[in-house]
Amino acid sequence: MTTAAKIPSAESASSRLQIVEKAFDVEKVRRDFPILSRDVRGKKLVYLDNAATSQKPRAVIDAISRYYEEGNANVHRGVHFLSEHATGEHERARRTVQKFINAPHANEIIFVRGTTEAINLVAQTYGRTHVGAGDEVLITAMEHHSNIVPWQLLCEEKGAKLRVAPINDKGELMLPEFEKLLGPRTKIVAVAHVSNALGTVNPLARIVELAHRRNIPVLVDGAQAVPHMKVDVQALDCDFYTFSSHKMFGPMGVGILYGKAALLEAMPPYQGGGEMISSVTFEKTLYNKLPFKFEAGTPDVSGAIGLGAAIEYMNEIGIDRIAEYEHELVAYATQKIPSITGVHLIGTAQERAGVISFVIDRIHPHDIGTILDQEGIAVRTGHHCAQPIMQRFGIPATARASFAFYNTKEEVDALAQGILKVKEVFA
Ligand SMILES: Cc1ncc(COP(=O)(O)O)c(C=O)c1O
Repeated sequence: MTTAAKIPSAESASSRLQIVEKAFDVEKVRRDFPILSRDVRGKKLVYLDNAATSQKPRAVIDAISRYYEEGNANVHRGVHFLSEHATGEHERARRTVQKFINAPHANEIIFVRGTTEAINLVAQTYGRTHVGAGDEVLITAMEHHSNIVPWQLLCEEKGAKLRVAPINDKGELMLPEFEKLLGPRTKIVAVAHVSNALGTVNPLARIVELAHRRNIPVLVDGAQAVPHMKVDVQALDCDFYTFSSHKMFGPMGVGILYGKAALLEAMPPYQGGGEMISSVTFEKTLYNKLPFKFEAGTPDVSGAIGLGAAIEYMNEIGIDRIAEYEHELVAYATQKIPSITGVHLIGTAQERAGVISFVIDRIHPHDIGTILDQEGIAVRTGHHCAQPIMQRFGIPATARASFAFYNTKEEVDALAQGILKVKEVFA
């Protein structure tokens, strides 16, 4: 395997990327994603909106079709063949997720609708039982709304305070300030692994260490990390880890809450209904064991199977190879895009993954997005569900190009050409 470290440092980002691209065989990878060969507005699609949602490989599409064509039944309830088969596949997917993030036990993997639901689950169960009047929840200034609003709802209900650790001008967490905000009233820390708007990778090991020193649990929003890097929840020692299938090449509508078993055991259920009980009378209900206590109602069986297939697909390519290739791709984009006059990156953290956010002098990001779209280039423009970050940088919005391992140097070059076109239109 070619590694960035083996390549002479004098090489430019462009030639480094060319070497890694060849070794990675990105063209072969692209053939696995049917949508990537389509045209958009008469141009070859350049899909750079992966932080919003990723595209799906044939292996995932086929796994979902196969489930509905050959294996559809409700799970955990039937004694008939199809139900047993569907249950087996559903639980196999759970074990695939467990291995993927190196969770100690499969019953620590809870299927939910996505990152948003996972965070709400923790806020409404762990949060409601541990956060009281005058207590504090600590987040950072770079959170997605999904990791802000659930905690605000909790704090409003309980008379608690939401504290926010600041970021510097590069978009990096200010660790000394973060540490100062950890106090005797802090009941939980909730932090993004990777910022969706800036691409900043947070120093999670240090964050967890600082919080744990004070016996404060840490929830990690991993929505933008799992598609790009190896995540090991035991090495991180975080207490909760959350992510969405659709951002990691799996289907929409399914996601994961990982939690340490001892914490999950002690938490009350989130929703009531079928599956989450062991017995019900009108007087008293006894709850099911983990993970089912948190999985009320019929789960998204095809979604879980699709997510399992996505993980198997990523494993086949190799998560380290993915990370290495993307590192060079983002490094190239980071050099190329702001070299265009009038283009400025928002978020220049030392450690970044997956995303470049930028603005162009005197051109609204919405106009950037609209003109790029005419060129077949899909980027996202707006506040990226992270309005406080926009306030922090004093801007209304950015244009964001977000990458996956099927993106290419040629596509970064197409983005650069598109930006020149945008500038021409507004000259
Ligand atoms: C960092 C981050 N957290 C949470 C979410 C919410 O994910 P979902 O909408 O899949 O629940 C997103 C989605 O963009 C995100 O980027």
